[in-house]
Amino acid sequence: MLEPVRMFLAQHYLQLKFIHLTAVMVWVWSTSVAYAFYLVPVFKAWRRNPEDQEIIRLRNWVMERFDQGASYEHIAFPIVLITGPLLFWVGGYNASVGWLMLKLLFVVGIFIPIEVTDYYLAHFGGAKHRYREAGDAPGYERAVQRHWWFLLLSSPVIMITAMIVLFLAITKPF
Ligand code: HEM
Repeated sequence: MLEPVRMFLAQHYLQLKFIHLTAVMVWVWSTSVAYAFYLVPVFKAWRRNPEDQEIIRLRNWVMERFDQGASYEHIAFPIVLITGPLLFWVGGYNASVGWLMLKLLFVVGIFIPIEVTDYYLAHFGGAKHRYREAGDAPGYERAVQRHWWFLLLSSPVIMITAMIVLFLAITKPF
């Protein structure tokens, strides 16, 4: 029953790979400018001047915009996770393909847990606008700081491992 689907996708393998790769690019890069040039500077300024109300207002505004801006990344990620296994299935790959297995180890062991946490912090229970709308100022402050710590810890990990995965997928070294 699935054979006609596989045959159809096999005829469109390169188009499928195009979608996979485009989603990968959005996932990897879409928040990078906002993170490096908006979020980091405003959090550094707040660390230097923790009581400055003007900086706190700016920090909160940037953080909420970042929550929203992460939507591109969070739409792209499921597309990567759907098209990747389709390429695997249609392309006749198996567990003996070393670069792919190592890549999947990174995806399952690092990317998925980090992304699940990130969805929660940006859009669900940890979304800052929810605390603001509920008038919960201490909750808001906790949510901002928790998200900041998450970003501080996860960003270097993602930056390094995503580059390794891109290298593995593109050069297919083993
Ligand atoms: C965030 C996670 C992922 C990243 C960063 C990523 C990255 C990439 C890149 C850059 C390519 C293009 C390689 C090329 O054109 O030479 C690719 C292809 C591919 N990916 Fe992914 N991928 C991810 C997730 C997955 C998953 C979950 C699978 C599931 C098995 C998968 C399976 C494949 C396959 C089979 C190819 C095709 C290789 C080819 O035909 O050249 N990917 N991936």
